[in-house]
Amino acid sequence: MRTIMVVCAGLSILLMSGCFTGGGVNVTDFDGIALYELKNDNGVVVKITNYGATVTSILAPDRKGNFADIALGYDRVEDYMNAVDKPYFGSIVGRYGNRIAKGKFTLNGETYTLATNNGSNHLHGGVIGFDKVVWSGSPISGDGFTGLELTYMAKDREEGYPGNLSMKVTYKLNNDNELVIDYYATTDKATPVNLTNHTYFNLAGEGNGTILGHKLMVNADRFTPVDETLIPTGELKPVKGTPFDFTSPKAIGHDIKQKNQQLKFGGGYDHNFVLNKGNGGMTLAATVYEPISGRFMEVLTEEPGIQFYCGNFLDGRLTGKAGKPYVHRGGFCLETQHYPDSPNQPNFPSCILKPGQVYKTKTIYRFSTK
Ligand code: BGC
Repeated sequence: MRTIMVVCAGLSILLMSGCFTGGGVNVTDFDGIALYELKNDNGVVVKITNYGATVTSILAPDRKGNFADIALGYDRVEDYMNAVDKPYFGSIVGRYGNRIAKGKFTLNGETYTLATNNGSNHLHGGVIGFDKVVWSGSPISGDGFTGLELTYMAKDREEGYPGNLSMKVTYKLNNDNELVIDYYATTDKATPVNLTNHTYFNLAGEGNGTILGHKLMVNADRFTPVDETLIPTGELKPVKGTPFDFTSPKAIGHDIKQKNQQLKFGGGYDHNFVLNKGNGGMTLAATVYEPISGRFMEVLTEEPGIQFYCGNFLDGRLTGKAGKPYVHRGGFCLETQHYPDSPNQPNFPSCILKPGQVYKTKTIYRFSTK
């Protein structure tokens, strides 16, 4: 197992093959932005850049052992910086992943105002969220894994949030083909924190059509319905009898065209599911199966919720690293999280981190075939 660091030079940072010359590694510098490659004994490769702590690529085998890149992304860092409609491909999003209504919340009697960068709401940490900052990266390794540790200190009032937030995110790839993400944070003032990873998957390979034939299971009997701006109404609604019932595996496209107000508001699925947690801790949140390739992905998490977003805003205008357009619903995200707008929803699990506490949460994406 190995971790390689590649730092690329020039105006353009080639995050993919362009960094490698003659089978060797070309090491130069571009404002401290690097590409790290994690490889396990089964040949699975995960590439991560410290720009936005972003997963740029995941090479995983199909049932015949053929590898494909199953994560949407770019091969130049400028594309991550300048992407139209900000898809947040592969990045860590925060300080608060997902939406905060009207970009406002009140904490300890003080009202904080954040950017409204998604219609009237705040989304994924604001204008320069954690997906748009350069993290410090250092390779790590241990018993059966190779990985990357990324740290970033968000300043008090950065993007409007209270408190200096000191963060560490580790990505570990092990020989069970698991990508394990651990999130840690501490603060010097009470602040909302909701960190997640925003990888878009297409288990048929990035750029290979839509994900509507993928079979999804979400371990959730309830979801949080939203208003037309995608802010939860506060209700925890049973999925039974609705297009949101993924308690048994079902093709993503099976019910997506149903006449349903929630699907209309989301332009498809773009909703938080309330995970069945049993006794809490690490539980299975979702599975996804792509029948043609046989690729199977499991998502496990300590978080109480998961946002299932099926790429409704992709429309073919963005072209991925292999030169193929990312079509409408050409990728899906399963973002483990606290429920959206938690800072304004007293009945949702609290997302407030206080001084002296440690934010600590784990999510695993496990890849196999069937
Ligand atoms: C949100 C979508 C948004 C996408 C990209 C998802 O987490 O739920 O509404 O379009 O991120 O910003």
